[in-house]
Amino acid sequence: MDYNLISISVIAVLFIVIFASGYRLNQTGKPYNTITFNIHKLIGLAVMAILIVKLYKMNQVSDIGWSEWITCTIAGLLFLSAIISGGVLSIDKQMPDIVIKIHRVNAYLIIPIIAIIYYQLI
Ligand code: HEM
Repeated sequence: MDYNLISISVIAVLFIVIFASGYRLNQTGKPYNTITFNIHKLIGLAVMAILIVKLYKMNQVSDIGWSEWITCTIAGLLFLSAIISGGVLSIDKQMPDIVIKIHRVNAYLIIPIIAIIYYQLI
């Protein structure tokens, strides 16, 4: 099977797990279930690590252009914001609604950005 197809499929499955665990955390509320929270957080970080390694390898094969770097920077900022807002949400206190809204918007924007990165680089 094509290597790129495998990596897209792996990321798609990981995203399903991230979204399913995120909605579960939202349903059950605080204090969050430790296992669900760790699955959600660690898989989120794993997807980011997979993408960084993939970009690093692609940049070695052929230099990545400026338009690709712009999309990668946007993706990096979205991931950073998801990690920060997720970290704030995980504090054991009621957080302002804006924090979950930021986390949600990030989550939904990361998907098309990753799709654009793959479209540009494959
Ligand atoms: C790729 C990164 C991530 C994505 C795509 C993502 C996505 C989501 C989604 C879709 C939800 C459900 C929101 C809703 O109910 O509408 C959620 C909830 C949550 N996420 Fe993430 N997340 C990511 C990373 C993280 C990280 C790194 C943390 C922690 C450090 C985190 C902590 C949380 C928490 C605590 C909730 C539950 C919020 C609540 O009480 O409603 N997330 N996430």
